[in-house]
Amino acid sequence: MSSGKLSQLSETLIGSEIVRLGAEIKEKNRQGLKVYNYTIGDFDSSIFPIPQELEEEIINAYKERHTTYPPADGIMELRSAVAGFIKQREKIEYANNEILIAAGGRPLIYAAFRAIVDKKDKVIYAVPSWNNNHYVHFTEGEHIVIESQHKNNFMPTAEEIRPHIKGASLLALCSPLNPTGTTFSKEELTAICDLVIEENASRGERDKKLYLLYDQIYWTLTYGDTAHVNPVTLRPKMKEYTIFIDGISKAFAATGVRVGWAMGPVNIINKMKAINSHVGAWAPMAEQKSCSWLFTPNRSY
Ligand SMILES: Cc1ncc(COP(=O)(O)O)c(C=O)c1O
Repeated sequence: MSSGKLSQLSETLIGSEIVRLGAEIKEKNRQGLKVYNYTIGDFDSSIFPIPQELEEEIINAYKERHTTYPPADGIMELRSAVAGFIKQREKIEYANNEILIAAGGRPLIYAAFRAIVDKKDKVIYAVPSWNNNHYVHFTEGEHIVIESQHKNNFMPTAEEIRPHIKGASLLALCSPLNPTGTTFSKEELTAICDLVIEENASRGERDKKLYLLYDQIYWTLTYGDTAHVNPVTLRPKMKEYTIFIDGISKAFAATGVRVGWAMGPVNIINKMKAINSHVGAWAPMAEQKSCSWLFTPNRSY
């Protein structure tokens, strides 16, 4: 076997730590050891199966031979259904061409980084957080890491972000946050949006803007006094700069089904679509058909 050098990227790549730990625990479980697996946010499907109707719809879709390539941006039925769901639940409007479907949240995050971040571009993210370090590494951006604080629920604040914002290309936020489960308050997220808007207003017409990657993949799991907030509802101007990451993996205990969506400005969504189409990171056709059913407007969520 050749042990020759590979690309700089592969020589320096660190595989997902959490996936490695998760696999080690699974192996220990297989050997009969009882170890609780709080690593990759996966579900024991014998305890948390996907919704039965979803399971049936997936099987039906395969029986009906929905087994071809899907369109690169996702089937229209699903993009419309996602738009309806988001409008109903989050009160924000996205057109079908502002929505991109892919095989879960990961390829969408990857594509968003690829579409926005150039070598040496500043990417701001807080720690603890999930996988931002790896995506910055992929794109050779400059890591601008904020150590979030317990007193702020481990969410980065506008004041912590402010000193780094000049000239940055991407601000990566997640709420509810993996791994802490904590969320932004309306006030704090509004203050962050105002910073982004102010920074973009100071840039020239032809300059690259500062974009906000807003990963809300856990948002439907909020309950009690916790209300999920999003940048576009708080500041409609943020629609020009925000790329949402969302999907069914966590909300429907469907981590292996692989359906996610991004919502954002048309020009970025189109570039992400082009990037993903080369990678082939589409959600399978049958799963897209069945998820269209999941989000039909007459269902109550
Ligand atoms: C914060 C966050 N975003 C995105 C994802 C990716 O989800 P998916 O399984 O849909 O790729 C995860 C998965 O653990 C996550 O924790």
